[in-house]
Amino acid sequence: MIFYCKKSEQLFVREEGKLTSPLCSVEVREICGHEVSIFAAQAFGVNEFSVKNATELHKNAMNWLHDTHETTEHELRSKLIEEIHLVKNAYPKKILVTSCGEGNDLPYLFKRYPNATFYIQDIAEEMLAAAIQRTKEFDGLIKVFFWLGDACDLPFQDNIFDIVYHFGGLNLFSSPEKGVSEMHRVGAIGSSIIFGDEGIAPFIRECEIGKALINNNPLYAALPPLSAIPPYVEDFKLQYVFNNCFYLVTYRKTDNHNINIDIPHKGLRGGTIRTRFYGQLEGINPSLRDAVFDTAKSLGISRVALLEKIIENGIKGLKDGEV
Ligand SMILES: C[S@@+](CC[C@H](N)C(=O)[O-])C[C@H]1O[C@@H](n2cnc3c(N)ncnc32)[C@H](O)[C@@H]1O
Repeated sequence: MIFYCKKSEQLFVREEGKLTSPLCSVEVREICGHEVSIFAAQAFGVNEFSVKNATELHKNAMNWLHDTHETTEHELRSKLIEEIHLVKNAYPKKILVTSCGEGNDLPYLFKRYPNATFYIQDIAEEMLAAAIQRTKEFDGLIKVFFWLGDACDLPFQDNIFDIVYHFGGLNLFSSPEKGVSEMHRVGAIGSSIIFGDEGIAPFIRECEIGKALINNNPLYAALPPLSAIPPYVEDFKLQYVFNNCFYLVTYRKTDNHNINIDIPHKGLRGGTIRTRFYGQLEGINPSLRDAVFDTAKSLGISRVALLEKIIENGIKGLKDGEV
């Protein structure tokens, strides 16, 4: 159990019907025969996911979506699971699923990764209860921790999950960017991260059908929150599903890039990415600048090479007392 208290910077301990840390305590309650840790929960009735017939409404919405886009639930979920191909570790140990809803993806994930430990959450108790119910046949076969909470505030340390999986909730988050940065934070280096939601592709956004779709459901106007992804990722892929109406982002988290900024440019100007960015100097007399350009050309060296030589020699001369 790896629930982590950000306040006391310690793992929670399970004791006396609660999770406790030196500074916090989290209720643990039984829901549909499973222990569920309650970090945060949405109040009853605030939206369609927290009402008595939440699962019926969700099923209706999914059926409408599949009928409209001529897809099936099986095609969608198989495709999503198929896209987790980037993970380096073929035997992922820890998998986080955020906003599981009524658990449509879970049987697919459990079958694909039967030996992993799953941490599965939603913010709506009614949806999480349905997910627990849906996966009853896996009880005792799959190690799983269900929990209620806000996906924008994940109770985990950095860099610990091998797969972080999300589909369909981002547009409902208080901040989709925060949701993505939290998912990225808890993914291990080398982990596979996948998320998607409504967000129509740029090439149909302005077409009549694009406008009609956005008019029908304004969430279709959402853009994938790509700016929330930190710079170090590899095998990044943005694609669209549901007739280009939902974005789907997959990538692997890394801790560095392979960009060599010290490769010299050939040609008149010369220099490297490093010198051009980090080595900029003040503006000088334009006629002196032209003289540098002409001299470099006549000597057959780059402007950067000439400038570096002149400055090096000039500084050395000044230090030696020459003016
Ligand atoms: C449209 S459903 C999708 C559910 C499921 N992933 C699927 O693909 O069928 C969106 C889910 O996101 C959940 N959700 C919304 N805001 C959330 C938040 N801040 N943290 C966690 N879950 C959230 C809702 O309760 C709901 O179950």
